[in-house]
Amino acid sequence: MYLTKEEERMLSGEDDYVAMKCMEWLVKYGDAAGAERLVDIDGTVNAPITGTRGLTSETGIDFSGPEMRNKKVKIFTHSGQIDTPVDGWEDIGFAPWNDPDHHKAFIDSFKPLIRAGVHPTCSCTYYLVSTFNPTVGQHCAWGESSAMPWCNAILGARTNYDGCFQAAYTGKIPMYGMHLDENRVGTHLIKVEAELRDGMAYDLLGFYVGGKVGLDVPVFTGFNKPNYNELIKMNSALNTTGAIHMYHIPGLTPEARTIEDSFNGNKPEDTITVGWDELKEAYDTLNYANDDAVDFVYIGCPHLTLDQVREVAWLLEGRRCRTNLWIMTNPWTFRQAEMMGYRDIIKRAGGVLLSGTCPGLMRCLPPNTEVMATNSAKQGYYLHGLVYPKELETWYGSTKECINAAITSKWSGKWMEDK
Ligand code: F3S
Repeated sequence: MYLTKEEERMLSGEDDYVAMKCMEWLVKYGDAAGAERLVDIDGTVNAPITGTRGLTSETGIDFSGPEMRNKKVKIFTHSGQIDTPVDGWEDIGFAPWNDPDHHKAFIDSFKPLIRAGVHPTCSCTYYLVSTFNPTVGQHCAWGESSAMPWCNAILGARTNYDGCFQAAYTGKIPMYGMHLDENRVGTHLIKVEAELRDGMAYDLLGFYVGGKVGLDVPVFTGFNKPNYNELIKMNSALNTTGAIHMYHIPGLTPEARTIEDSFNGNKPEDTITVGWDELKEAYDTLNYANDDAVDFVYIGCPHLTLDQVREVAWLLEGRRCRTNLWIMTNPWTFRQAEMMGYRDIIKRAGGVLLSGTCPGLMRCLPPNTEVMATNSAKQGYYLHGLVYPKELETWYGSTKECINAAITSKWSGKWMEDK
């Protein structure tokens, strides 16, 4: 891979040992990816907090050691979701999560990254709370499923799935994939014929299309005006069954105003029509439960916005849960939800508002969970195999159906056309 004089100097270790270790890793990564060169990051970086552990194994740098003293990231950098709750942990009711020492040790483990200038958003939707985002065309290094299309499609900035401290520290990342114009052109035309009425419909659309399009670039037609909550849902589901980093919605996303623009004048490789039958197929795949006696309800994948926490709180107001109920958001929204009284409403109903992580990352569910209900295609899909060594039965439905299941401990969700 071609390196500039500045990059050669970094690699030589002449000025900075940490820069040398980071550059060694970036060169190996770029060579493996077939990149011809590195690109200067003029956008932002997402460096996982758990990356401090990865960094040591990848580069040999001890993140808490003397070589990191007074070292700062070069680029505005935020961290993403983590594997331990940041807030609400006292309410979980079982170890190790409700152990103050466990919690303190975990929070203390962020400190080296914070000293280096990384902002710990502790959320998969860090792009909503990081307070600073890239603009069209800026080169970034981000990670996490719903964030990939957020960066590429919604913001029009450019990233592969490679957010890391090495990029944050050097300001460089291999120039391939989504950094190049030719890989951002539409490949598949997706004609949406079902009327998408809510977040669940967008979740199912993403789940269905991700499975059909895989790694390519869909171009959607037939949308109305999705809101942020709906787009976040769709993005996370596109990267559950597939690994879609980029899409176009002509007239809505910034890189293509027309269908012709989206395909750069080429013909689509394939055209996929999505109506109610296709959404029902996704719905049926996600509902792999037989027992309607629910014992755990999870809402919060991707992490909830304040608007979504409010929806849940209002559904719970004056009622009492008969199952475990976890609701997940990011730490900043958690505090706003406390201020608005939503946490109190949720607690009075017997639910637990948490921040920073999710059952999939914690690899943990409340003890003795056999049947779960969730409103998230991504969480439902992953929890089945990720958390439990045994078969976990999972129901999938709307937020309202999930809250009803928490109140009654019975699943009574129905396919949306039957309502
Ligand atoms: Fe976020 Fe966990 Fe879902 S990190 S996207 S809540 S799997």
